[in-house]
Order: sequence, then C-alpha cells, then structure tokens
Amino acid sequence: MQWFRKCRLQCLVKLTVIVGSLGLLSLIIKVNTGNGSTHILNYDWLEYTDADGGPERACNCSAILQGDEEAVRQAKILTITKEFRKSIQIPDDFYTSEAQDCRRFKLKRKYLTMPLSKEEEDFPLAFSIIVHHKVQNFERLLRAIYAPHNIYCIHVDQKSAVSVVSAIKAITSCFPNIFLAKRTESVTYASWSRVQADLNCMADLYNSSIKWKYFINLCGQDFPLKTNLEIVRMLRSFKGENSLESEKMSEGKKERVNNVFKIVDGHPKKTGEKKEKPPFDLPILSGSAYIVVNRGYIRSVLEDSRIQTLIEWAKDTYSPDEFLWATIQRMPGIPGSRWPHVKHDMTDLNSHARLVKWQWHEGPQGSLEAAYPKCEGTHNRGICVYGAGDLPWLLEHHHLFANKFDTDFDAIAVYCLEKYLRQKALSDLQSITLFPLKMW
Ligand SMILES: *[C@@H]1O[C@H](CO)[C@@H](O)[C@H](O)[C@H]1NC(C)=O
Ligand SMILES: *[C@@H]1O[C@H](CO)[C@@H](O)[C@H](O)[C@H]1NC(C)=O
Repeated sequence: MQWFRKCRLQCLVKLTVIVGSLGLLSLIIKVNTGNGSTHILNYDWLEYTDADGGPERACNCSAILQGDEEAVRQAKILTITKEFRKSIQIPDDFYTSEAQDCRRFKLKRKYLTMPLSKEEEDFPLAFSIIVHHKVQNFERLLRAIYAPHNIYCIHVDQKSAVSVVSAIKAITSCFPNIFLAKRTESVTYASWSRVQADLNCMADLYNSSIKWKYFINLCGQDFPLKTNLEIVRMLRSFKGENSLESEKMSEGKKERVNNVFKIVDGHPKKTGEKKEKPPFDLPILSGSAYIVVNRGYIRSVLEDSRIQTLIEWAKDTYSPDEFLWATIQRMPGIPGSRWPHVKHDMTDLNSHARLVKWQWHEGPQGSLEAAYPKCEGTHNRGICVYGAGDLPWLLEHHHLFANKFDTDFDAIAVYCLEKYLRQKALSDLQSITLFPLKMW
C-alpha cells in the first residue's frame, strides 16, 4: 500500500501545480480509490512492471515482440525448464484467499477501475466467458478485458472442481459488473450443451440494465489482441454489422447435420437415425463457436420464432456451436447479418472474432499451400497453443481475440501480450487526454 500512498501524494502535488498554473483540467482522470475518488494525473502505476510479474519476467518481451530469434529461443527454453514450469503454477486456493480483500486484490492486480475514455464508456460491451478449469488463464484474460462500464457473464461448468468454482466466485464477486450465469450446464465437447452455456449467458446479459452495443463470447483460453479502445473503434467501424466466420459447409462436415447424435459415455455418437431437413430449408453454414455480434442479433437469438425452431432442430446434431451462429448470421432480417449468397461468405481469417492457427493449414514460411507459418508453441486438438514466438504473427492481425493460450504451457506468451496491451491502453490514454477539448 505504501507505494500507492506515495503515488497519490505525488500525483496530488502535480495536479495542484498543473491546475494552478495552466488550468489544464482535461489532463485529469478520476480514479476511485475506495475511500472517495481522487484525481490523479500519473497512471504509470497501472503499467504492468517486472515487479508484478511472476517468473516470466526473466524474458525480454520487447525483443520477443520484435521477433528476435535469440529472445524467442530463450523463452522457449524457459518454458520447458522444470523449475520454471513449477514456479508458474498458481493454485486455485490462492485466488480464493487473495480475492477475499477485493480492494487489495484489484489494486495489486492493477485492474482498471475507471473507464479510460468517454468513447469507451459510451460503447459498453457484453462478454460471455465459458470456463471449466485453468483459473490463472481465466483471471489473466479477465484482467486484460476488464472495464467497469462493460458487463461480463461467466459460465462455470457444472463438472468443474470445487476449488475452481470457489476461486472464480471469489474473483467475480469483487466486481459489480461481473456475474455468474444464473443457469449452468455440464458441457460436453461438440454437443448442444456448449451452445446452451452461451445461450444462458446471452439471456442474462440481454436482461441486464446495461444497454451494451456488442456481444463477444470467449473461453478461458482466449486472449485479446487489442485494447478495449481498439475493440470499440473496430466495432464502431462495423456500423452494426456482425463479424463471424460463416461459409459453405465442406462435404466432410455435412454428416454432422445429416445424422442424429446422442451423448454416449460423455461423447456425441451417431444413433444411426438420419436427421430431417433443416427448418424453412435454411442453408446450414459452417463457422466458429466464437462470435462478435450486435445487440439485435442476440435479441433475435432469444426471441425470433424461426431461430427457436432452428435451435430445437440443432439440439441432436454434432458440434452445433460450429454452424448455428454461422447459419443465423445468414438469415435475412437478422440485425447485422449477411445475405446468404456465397459471395457474402466470411472465413475465420477475414472475420474479426477469433484468430486460430489450425495445424493442417500451417506450413513453412513463404509456402503458397499454407495459410500461415508454423505454430511456435504446441498443438491441442489440431489447434496451436501459442508460444512466445507466435506473438509477432498474432499482432499483425485485425482479429480482436486469439485462441489458444495456456499459462501452463507458455506463460511468457501471455505475459508479453498482457504487458503490451496495458502499455498500449495507457499510451493511447495519454494521447486522448492530452487533447485539451476532450474534457469529461
Ligand atoms: C531487450 O530487447 C531490446 C530490443 O531488442 C533491447 O533494446 C534491450 O536492451 C533488451 N533488454 C534487456 C534487459 O536485455
Ligand atoms: C429478466 O429479469 C427479470 C427481473 O429480474 C426476471 O423476472 C425475468 O425472468 C428475466 N428474464 C429473462 C429472460 O431472464
């Protein structure tokens, strides 16, 4: 706490000097410190420093972000070192006890407790986050996307360990705008329950008093590539359009919707029964479970009777999350949707929702057959779990979020990315608030 008191004192002195001599009130931002609000000028203390970092601080993030081969190599060696792997583990109970004192927890973890700009405050976002384990990943993701004017629904899997549930409950109870989904599911991979978990959060978010503009769904292993301000600016530029993968379904995937599936021993299995045609002869399109959609799209999902019929039809298919949102996105009349014609198809690389490196699309640098360079981390279910060496590639993209990150595998990738984003958010803040007319 001492450093914080010191900062407040310094800041107040600076404030007095500036207000007294220049009257530049626009430079002031309001920070709620818990015991009344204090105006401070200096937000350097919100930067993530090496002192806040764990063992990851041993690496050189600026060199890694520049693609320095030696720095990436050193980071890679660190991530496979036994002691390092052990030292980055944080038990769930740690979060449960740390978050007992919310004020201290938020300060220590440097959560942003004020909107950084009016532009962001005027454009609130709704997030649905589906988690079942890896509390450290979840908390770092939450911290990276948290803003006090947004709203967050967290769906914790019914099957989650007790320690995971209590850690996430403790963390989320520290924030008035983060809540746990009212209804929870036991999520089975590739089954309807995955969609239902998002639907539960969609209903809760839509029913909240915050009139958010866009909805973004995430899982615990996603991480943003953009600051909240950058996300807001990108979304405003969409002018109401949604951004998600939605394209012609490949022949190989068609069996997912041509057959009836049932959960057997925790996995969806074909029953042998053929599925009837989709309602209204809707063209079923292929896409991702992860979407960026406007409020009207969510209203339609919850209220449009055609979609209720489609939902009932989709419940016994394989991986409905990977066609339902994509199909709704091409239904005429849905806010922000695209016309069903093939010319309006959108691939995952063209959408903004999620950047994923699929193993079978990777290839050597410069290969025309490959969609992207090789994964610098490891693979999980054919998807790249990013290593520090993937960061320069990730940051070249326009996507708002990328998948997958895993602090158990490469905490340095997360560390360098979170540091970069916070630094960017604070430096953009300087340029906003230095603008003398931008007083609020
Ligand atoms: C980290 O890398 C940057 C850029 O390559 C370099 O300028 C800096 O000196 C390095 N820092 C340390 C502590 O090695
Ligand atoms: C919305 O909230 C109200 C008041 O809390 C509740 O009565 C209603 O059932 C909710 N609706 C939905 C769709 O969750």
